Amino acid sequence: MAGEQIRLLVVEDVPQVASHVRSLLQAQSQIKMLDVVTSGDRAVGSVAELRPDVVIVDALLQGRVSGQQVAEQIRRADPQVGVIMLTVPQNPVREDTERGIDAVLKMPFTGFDLTTLIRKVGETRAVESARAGSLVVTLFSPKGGVGRTTLAYNLAVALGKEHRVCLVDGSLQFSDLRGLLRVPAVAPSIVNLPTDRIKESDLTDVAWRDPSGIDILLAPPRVEMAEMVTTRDIEKVLSLLRQLYEFVIIDTRAALSDDVLVFLDSADLILQVLTYDSMAIRSLTMAAETFKAIGYPPSKLATILNRSDASGGFDKADVEQALGAAIDFEVVSDGRLVLSSNNEGLAFVASNPEAPISQGVLRVAESLATQLKGRTPALVNR
Ligand SMILES: Nc1ncnc2c1ncn2[C@@H]1O[C@H](COP(=O)(O)OP(=O)(O)OP(=O)(O)O)[C@@H](O)[C@H]1O
Ligand SMILES: [Mg+2]
Repeated sequence: MAGEQIRLLVVEDVPQVASHVRSLLQAQSQIKMLDVVTSGDRAVGSVAELRPDVVIVDALLQGRVSGQQVAEQIRRADPQVGVIMLTVPQNPVREDTERGIDAVLKMPFTGFDLTTLIRKVGETRAVESARAGSLVVTLFSPKGGVGRTTLAYNLAVALGKEHRVCLVDGSLQFSDLRGLLRVPAVAPSIVNLPTDRIKESDLTDVAWRDPSGIDILLAPPRVEMAEMVTTRDIEKVLSLLRQLYEFVIIDTRAALSDDVLVFLDSADLILQVLTYDSMAIRSLTMAAETFKAIGYPPSKLATILNRSDASGGFDKADVEQALGAAIDFEVVSDGRLVLSSNNEGLAFVASNPEAPISQGVLRVAESLATQLKGRTPALVNR
């Protein structure tokens, strides 16, 4: 943000104070005062409309919505916006970023105090929102049994060593991750989240903490409960997860249904999983046509060939030709290690990182970490 103009909104119901702020900012061009909102209940609407970088809120706002409530509402609605609480010495206010107060400005103040604080808050929030960069990765295959759940869990654990990771159990009917990790049926799931506005604390209450260190948002414990999760719910939860985690890894069921499409649409990257199996290759080729019709750019898609050493007479080049895309990653078979790890609910990337199968998954993780850093579309594996 350095060097850029900062967009400021003022929520103030005392006209003299608003015009004082305006006059102090008149002599400079680094901060642009967008508007003055004179009532707390219109603040969030104006933030959405005017997209300020920083909002000054009078702590002593009269009316239905208090200054503190305005600050909290803004933080929930748009965590990238910085909030400065304006107050008088007789009404001390504490800085509390969680509650939406990034800084406190006490009256009286000079033009220098005002511009310095606005710039500081604007720049801090800009850095924070850049850090809030996240990568949402959906593992997909229209054919079942190709290894999505196994790869999703191991990939998430591999990334979890250095990043904040949430694994989403997107196999909403059968909750594959519950099965894999032997999670008790009473453990809460995505259906336990509120359907209107979801807060970070709601998610903290619901997420399953895996011993590996990653958080897992589980699918419901019973098949029929999947119907309780709407596509709108999925969109909302993913947008919150983006703000809280660096990586959101999503396991899906073998289908191209509405729920899976939301997980695909919301993804920065779709990892298509296949094996050397004519049915898997055929269905993925059909899905590729659908993706093209939807308008997914090629940079949104990458392919993992699982069990790559079991070619079954197929040639890799032929498979790539059928798919119309290169195979980006290969993960070999290791029936014994996968079986024993999956049966214990453990990640082989953690228990046996040197094994060739783990090395394959770790290469995918490395590439994703690089992509997060640069947000470059090209995946490099070879
Ligand atoms: N690289 C591998 N080497 C050996 N076995 C594997 C490998 N990947 C997956 N498996 C095994 O293949 C089976 C299917 O794996 P997994 O359940 O992860 O696939 P899926 O695509 O999620 O299947 P579903 O359609 O049931 O959701 C499991 O028994 C798993 O242990
Ligand atoms: Mg599965």
